[in-house]
Amino acid sequence: MKEIKKVVVVGAGMMGNALAQVFASNPDLQVALKTRALKDDRWDPIVNNLDIMIARGAATQAEKEAILSRISFVTDEAEAYSDADFVIDCYPEVMETKQELFCTIEKYCSDDCILATNTSVMSPTEIFSKCAHPERGVGAHFWNPGHLIPLVEVVKSNVTADWVMDATMDLMTACGKKPIYCKKDVPGFVANRLQHAIWREAFYMVENGIADPATVDDACKYGPGLRWPVMGPMENSDLVGIQLSWNIHDYILKHLADNHEPSKCLKEMLDRGDLGFKTGKGWQEWTAEEMKASSDGLKEYLIDYAAKQKK
Ligand SMILES: NC(=O)c1ccc[n+]([C@@H]2O[C@H](COP(=O)([O-])OP(=O)(O)OC[C@H]3O[C@@H](n4cnc5c(N)ncnc54)[C@H](O)[C@@H]3O)[C@@H](O)[C@H]2O)c1
Repeated sequence: MKEIKKVVVVGAGMMGNALAQVFASNPDLQVALKTRALKDDRWDPIVNNLDIMIARGAATQAEKEAILSRISFVTDEAEAYSDADFVIDCYPEVMETKQELFCTIEKYCSDDCILATNTSVMSPTEIFSKCAHPERGVGAHFWNPGHLIPLVEVVKSNVTADWVMDATMDLMTACGKKPIYCKKDVPGFVANRLQHAIWREAFYMVENGIADPATVDDACKYGPGLRWPVMGPMENSDLVGIQLSWNIHDYILKHLADNHEPSKCLKEMLDRGDLGFKTGKGWQEWTAEEMKASSDGLKEYLIDYAAKQKK
């Protein structure tokens, strides 16, 4: 099994900062954050994330200092990549940009350096298709906020070598993440396919007057959403039984949303300029206080979850 000692995170944006923190939480790793310029405020996002975690008991001051000591910022490509064991891109979500990036990295890195992409939706097979060694390319899709959500989807491209999948799964586990093994490179990988199957049905119900937006959200928050942290659909189907699962699907599937185009309501809102939290109106109207409470509430919930996992 490949030994990973140095991880390089490319792109010091929202995900790049979070991922540098995640990898640096492992005392056996050195982390380089590849950035275009060494700005004076470069440490702020990581320090802020850690300070908020410390305030709610999800990290200690000693852990913060240890994490920061393992991270360095680099601008030079040779310095960043020549002794790297694992490089992950947190670059903008543009196919040609990512393809060019990995061709550049290959000029400097060793033959057995693993190349990973944190792409949200694009095909890892296509991203690594211009590389000399595409078999060392793998998807490693973190969820935002990357330092708080445990899931990482490790995605096998059409040519990813098994040793690369295994080493990436092990690395994520060693950094406290919950990696899942995605056997095929399909749009949405695993978790976004599940998420958007639910969003499609949610939008369909509002569009067809079955329930209003807040009611749909309540149905998730106070019903099945309470089960999901401890029981996913596969285990739940076994629990209720295969016969009941079959009977329910035999009756209901023909009534569920199966549109292959985005909801008409989304297009109407776009045309009206109702962009959600950006404008204070989307499916629902939001005051500034409500929007702050919503995003703060999610962050606090996730930090408290991280604190509970630590105990
Ligand atoms: N934001 C999310 O919710 C989320 C979640 C999962 C995955 N992702 C994926 O992670 C990747 C990064 O997303 P993000 O939200 O962190 O974006 P971001 O815009 O915050 O960060 C991108 C970073 O890349 C840097 N960059 C751009 N061109 C560069 C260059 N030529 N050289 C060096 N740095 C350069 C930018 O300065 C910026 O810091 C994308 O592929 C995105 O799809 C995002």
